Amino acid sequence: VTEAALHPLIDALPRFRLAALPTPVEHLPMLSAETGVNLWTKRDDLTGFALGGNKARKLEFLVGDALAHGADCVITTGGSQSNHARITAAAAGKAGLECFLVLDTGRHPSGGNLFLDNLFGAHIELLDSADPRVAVEAMRSLSDKLESQGRKPYSIPRGGSVPAGAVGYAAMIFELAQQFPEIGAPVDYLYVATGSCGTHSGIMAGIALAAIDLPVRGISVSHPERTQVERVTTLTNDLLNWLGSSLTLGGLQVVVDAAYVGEGYGVPTAGVWEAIRRLSRSEAILLDPVYTGKAMAGLLDHIDRDVVPPGSTVVFVHTGGSPALFAYADEMEQSGCLA
Ligand SMILES: Cc1ncc(COP(=O)(O)O)c(C=O)c1O
Repeated sequence: VTEAALHPLIDALPRFRLAALPTPVEHLPMLSAETGVNLWTKRDDLTGFALGGNKARKLEFLVGDALAHGADCVITTGGSQSNHARITAAAAGKAGLECFLVLDTGRHPSGGNLFLDNLFGAHIELLDSADPRVAVEAMRSLSDKLESQGRKPYSIPRGGSVPAGAVGYAAMIFELAQQFPEIGAPVDYLYVATGSCGTHSGIMAGIALAAIDLPVRGISVSHPERTQVERVTTLTNDLLNWLGSSLTLGGLQVVVDAAYVGEGYGVPTAGVWEAIRRLSRSEAILLDPVYTGKAMAGLLDHIDRDVVPPGSTVVFVHTGGSPALFAYADEMEQSGCLA
C-alpha cells in the first residue's frame, strides 16, 4: 500500500500522522444492483484513528500546525456528539497536548462521542446553550484564562473548518485520484455531507490543485443552500490562498442541496433512518444519524428522482461518525425502522 504523492504545497506543511491512509474505495454491489447506479464509497470512516472518520485527516494538519506554533494545549468546540471533538481529544493526547472542549448542549448529551471525549482525557465544559456564538465566546475567555496562566493554547474553530484543517481534504483528492483506475469508469459525481464546510472546501481546493474534472454534490446537514455555497466558496479560496497557490475556485461550481436537513442539525429524518437501515443490511456499512445518514438519504433520493441518471458512476465519501449511533440508539428504535 503506497501513500499518494501529494501537491508540493501540501507536502511542505507540518503534519502529525494519525490516519491509516490510503482509505479504501469500495464498490457497493447490492445497492448498485438495486438502484441501477454504479455506486462506490471512499471509506473515510476507516481512517482508523480513534474510531475513524473525516476529522482524522483534518487533525493531522491542525495538530501539525499547533505543534509548529509551540502550543501546549488545544481548545475546540462542537455539539455534545461532535466527532470533531472526539478526534481532537484523542489527537491532542497522542501529541502530548492538553485538550479543552467547550461543548453545546445537544439533544444527546451522554454516551457516544461524549463518553469517548472523557475517555480520551479531555477537560469538558458543557454549555447551557445550543447557540454557537455562546461557544465562541466561551472558547475566547478560556483561551484568555489559559494565556494569563502562561499557557500556549491553540484554538480550533468548530469542525476544524479553517484552511489548516480543510487542507486534509485537498490531500484526500490526490489520494482518490490514484484510486480512479480501481473504479474503472469516469466518476460522474462525488457526494459528501456538508456541515461546517471544511471537508467540501478541501475537496474543491484539491480538485483545483489536481486539475481534475470531478463534479461534487454536497448534501447540507444543517444550514440552507445559500449559506453553505457561500461558506464553501470562501473557505476554498482562503485555503488556496493560505497554501500560497495562485489558483482560485474560478469556474468550479459549488453545489449544495439543503433539502434533506429536516428540522435541523442533529435531528434525523425518516429518510436518515431508512438510509442507515438500508446500508447496514445490504452492505454492512454503518452510517451515522447526523451526517452520513443525511448525505446518503440525499443521494438515494437523487437516484430515485433521476437527479443522478441511471448508469452514472458515483463515489460517496463516507466521512464516518458511527460512534454517535450509540447515543441515538433509543431514538432509532423508537422510529420503528428496525422492525
Ligand atoms: C461524520 C462526519 N461527517 C461529515 C462531517 C461534515 O464535515 P464538515 O464539518 O467539514 O462539513 C462531519 C463534521 O463534523 C462529521 O463528523
